Amino acid sequence: MKVLILPDAQAATRRAADIVSRTVSATPDSVLGLATGGTMLPLYDALAQRHRDEGLSFAKVTSFNLDEYIGLTPDHPCSYHHYMQEAFFRHVDIDPARTHLPKGDAADPQAASDDYEALIEKAGGIDLQLLGIGQNGHIGFNEPTASLGSRTRIKTLTESTRRANQKYFDSFDETPRYAITTGVATILASHKCLLIATGTAKARAVVDMIEGPVSAACPASALQLHARVTVILDEAAAGELHLKEYYETVHPGGRDSAFD
Ligand code: F6R
Repeated sequence: MKVLILPDAQAATRRAADIVSRTVSATPDSVLGLATGGTMLPLYDALAQRHRDEGLSFAKVTSFNLDEYIGLTPDHPCSYHHYMQEAFFRHVDIDPARTHLPKGDAADPQAASDDYEALIEKAGGIDLQLLGIGQNGHIGFNEPTASLGSRTRIKTLTESTRRANQKYFDSFDETPRYAITTGVATILASHKCLLIATGTAKARAVVDMIEGPVSAACPASALQLHARVTVILDEAAAGELHLKEYYETVHPGGRDSAFD
């Protein structure tokens, strides 16, 4: 894992935006795996700004989001369809026909999950997968004990995830209990992964992911098995890492290498 530690969340976002911009500029028809959640909002803002100010184009990009709540229609204000539309898609030139999210309102969510996995494969797989991390170590909605061999399917959300996401809903009871998520193995099949974590609330999960054993108890730890993962942290999220000084020596100031 390439562990890049930046001074604060703004610098971490800029660093992540640089990587996404470089990918899309080098390969305009990239297949991007997209995530939602609070951590991604400033990244989408930064990318939209680069689209406006620097002409960064997403016109040929194909995208697949990690997850969607079961039972919410795309126009529900708390659906991830709606989030993506508001946070990113409507601010850039991405072709709506090339954007994909799991169909949370499908009559048969498992069939919709199988179709989604097949669509990703048909697109040639994901070139760059963006990831956040849950306080309990989830990636996508692969909650602790999710099979490390899992593919897109229905997952039951833990109480901790529902509590973390409750702020977007009117009450805890209205916070969905189920989601369709791409699996841990789907994520590991991506060509490259870019995980962003900011804030002290993520510090424990970050240690388990980077320095803990590979275990379904922390699904993000499965990323240790992937050869091309970049983790971008701010100081707060990096605060509990045992080998923090080592990562800072290898990647001074969050640069790719000491020789840059
Ligand atoms: C959402 C997703 C989740 C989030 C994670 C962190 O698509 O895949 O794994 O990335 O829950 O969420 P925030 O950024 O809100 O802390």
